[in-house]
Amino acid sequence: MIGLDFVDRVAELSALAEEAERASCGDPRIVQLSGPAGIGKSALAGAFLAGRPELTRVHVAGAEDETGMHLGVADALLRLLAARAGHGEDHTGAAIDNPLARGGDLIEYLALAQRRGTVAVIVDQLDWVDPASVAALAFAFRRLNGERILIILIGREEMPPDTCRRPASRRGEADRLGVAAAHGLHRGRALPARAYRW
Ligand SMILES: Nc1ncnc2c1ncn2[C@@H]1O[C@H](COP(=O)(O)OP(=O)(O)OP(=O)(O)O)[C@@H](O)[C@H]1O
Ligand SMILES: [Mg+2]
Repeated sequence: MIGLDFVDRVAELSALAEEAERASCGDPRIVQLSGPAGIGKSALAGAFLAGRPELTRVHVAGAEDETGMHLGVADALLRLLAARAGHGEDHTGAAIDNPLARGGDLIEYLALAQRRGTVAVIVDQLDWVDPASVAALAFAFRRLNGERILIILIGREEMPPDTCRRPASRRGEADRLGVAAAHGLHRGRALPARAYRW
């Protein structure tokens, strides 16, 4: 149920619901919420997820003063997924701090996490996610194939459909909230995509 104090965004909520439905059928989806500061990107994701308790929610976010933290966000996501899988030990202190290796670990834990139900992975403040984490996340997300996973990427910049990588120093100038249900990337190819723009 959407809170009474959450106004409008009917079309966006509907688009998110449609993507979640597809994800729950084993068609992994990536949704991008983009727009300027304060327009309501995080609130939209929060309101949507509040109305979908059946989705397992895993939330990470970049931070302006942590963009130099190598693999910080990827490791935070990995820890959350490992905990959900009942693997409480630290999986992030590995000798290998290669982003692609971490991406491989993420694939493994994303696959485990969705066995018990559809998982919603929210990556907020994408503009501030450290570059190594962006590489790790992109590596993992591109290889999703058949998992019940909905990924929601939230950032101020509009992101191109074939990547979630954005330079941390740039800012978008979109004047309205964009919701792009764009890509389930599979083995480097973009699957047929639908895009939503408001
Ligand atoms: N549809 C809405 N109905 C009611 N309040 C809203 C709505 N959308 C956003 N708000 C309120 O507006 C404020 C800004 O929203 P929010 O934090 O989601 O913006 P944002 O786009 O995520 O900004 P940032 O880029 O800085 O993270 C919050 O206080 C939020 O509760
Ligand atoms: Mg926000």
